[in-house]
Amino acid sequence: SILEMEVEQINKGKYEHYMQKEIHEQPESLRTTMRGRLIRGGSSKGKTVLLGGLKDHLKTIRRSRRIVFIGCGTSYNAALASRPIVEELSGIPVTLEIASDLVDRQGPIYREDTAIFVSQSGETADTLLALDYALENGALCVGITNTVGSAIARNTHCGVHINAGCEIGVASTKAYTSQIVVMAMVALAIGADTISNQGRREAIVDGLIDLPNKVKEVLKLDEEMNDLAKQLISEQSLLVFGRGYNYATALEGALKVKEVSLMHSEGILAGEMKHGPLALVDENLPIFVIATRDACFSKQQSVIQQLHARKGRLIVMCTEGDVASVSVGGSCRVVEVPRVEDCLQPVINIVPLQLLAYHLTVLRGYNVDQPRNLAKSVTTQ
Ligand code: AGP
Repeated sequence: SILEMEVEQINKGKYEHYMQKEIHEQPESLRTTMRGRLIRGGSSKGKTVLLGGLKDHLKTIRRSRRIVFIGCGTSYNAALASRPIVEELSGIPVTLEIASDLVDRQGPIYREDTAIFVSQSGETADTLLALDYALENGALCVGITNTVGSAIARNTHCGVHINAGCEIGVASTKAYTSQIVVMAMVALAIGADTISNQGRREAIVDGLIDLPNKVKEVLKLDEEMNDLAKQLISEQSLLVFGRGYNYATALEGALKVKEVSLMHSEGILAGEMKHGPLALVDENLPIFVIATRDACFSKQQSVIQQLHARKGRLIVMCTEGDVASVSVGGSCRVVEVPRVEDCLQPVINIVPLQLLAYHLTVLRGYNVDQPRNLAKSVTTQ
C-alpha cells in the first residue's frame, strides 16, 4: 500500500536500501553496542568492561575446560573473527561449531563446556536445536543475540545483547561488526583477572573506544568500492584470501558477495593456497587479498608475490601508507584502510567488502534487501 511505502521511505531515510543504511550506520550501531559497557576506571583499577548479563557467571566460564562458539552464516563468521582474542585473553581452548553440523554429528558437548550461541535474530532453527542439545548435555549456555526476548535469549543461562538496533536487510552487516565487538568485550571480561595481559587489555579498550571513528573513516571508501564494483560487474567469480584475524573477513566478504550480488565468491584461508586453490589462478580471475598489518603480514606479502608470479588479477587491502609494501609489478589495485588494534581489524576490513557487495548488487540489478530464495531469519531446518 501507499502507506507502507511511505513508512519504508521514512525508515530508510536518505538511503535507497536497508543494506546501504545499515552499512553506513555502523559508527552509531557500534557506539550503542559499547554504551555503558566500557569503564575507564581510576588509575588503580585501569580500563575494563562491564557486561551485566555475564558478571555472575564469569567464575564458571573461567573454570570451563573449553569454550564452544555455535552459530550459522554471518554469526558463525563473527565467532571465527573473535576466536583468536578469546583464546589469547582467556587461555581457554576455543572451538567453533556450525550449528547444523554439531547437531548432525551429535558432537561431544560436556558439562565442563561453556557453549556460546551467536545469532542476530535469536530465532535461527539450527542454532536453537544446537542449544537444546547443549542444554541436554549440561553445558553452561551463553547467548549473544540482537533480539531481546528471542528464543535464544530466553533459553540460555545468561548472555549479552548486541544492541546493534533492528537489522532489516537479509544480508547481515551491522550485526556482524557489533557481534565481533561484543565477543572482544567477552574476551576482556573473561581475562579481567589476569595481571599479565593488563596492558594488552587496556590497549583493546582504547581501540574499542576509538573504533566508531575509524569505521567512519573506512566508510569514505564508498565511491572507490562503487568504482571497483563497476570493474567486476560481469565477472563469474571472486576469490577472497585472508588469514589469522582476517580469515573470517575472507569468509564473510565472500558470503556477502554471493548472497546479494549472486556472483560466485569463495573465502580462502591464505595458508591453504598451495593445497589446492592456487590451481585456479590465472590472468582473468579476480582475487581480493587482505594484507593489513598484523603478525601474519609478511606471510601475506609472500602470498601476494606467489599469486603475482602466476599472473593473478589482484586487489589488495592494506593498511594506510602501506601501498609500496604490498604492490607487485605496479599493476594490482590497492584498497587502503585505517589501522586499529589487530583483534579489532576485522571490524574495519569487512566494511569495504560490504560496500563492494552492495554496489555489485545494485549494478547487476538484483534485489539488495531481499535476495532470491533467502529469508532474514531461517526458522526452518
Ligand atoms: C547473513 O548475511 C545471512 N543472511 C545468514 O548467513 C545469517 O547470518 C544466518 O542465517 C544466521 O542468522 P542469525 O544470526 O539470525 O542466527
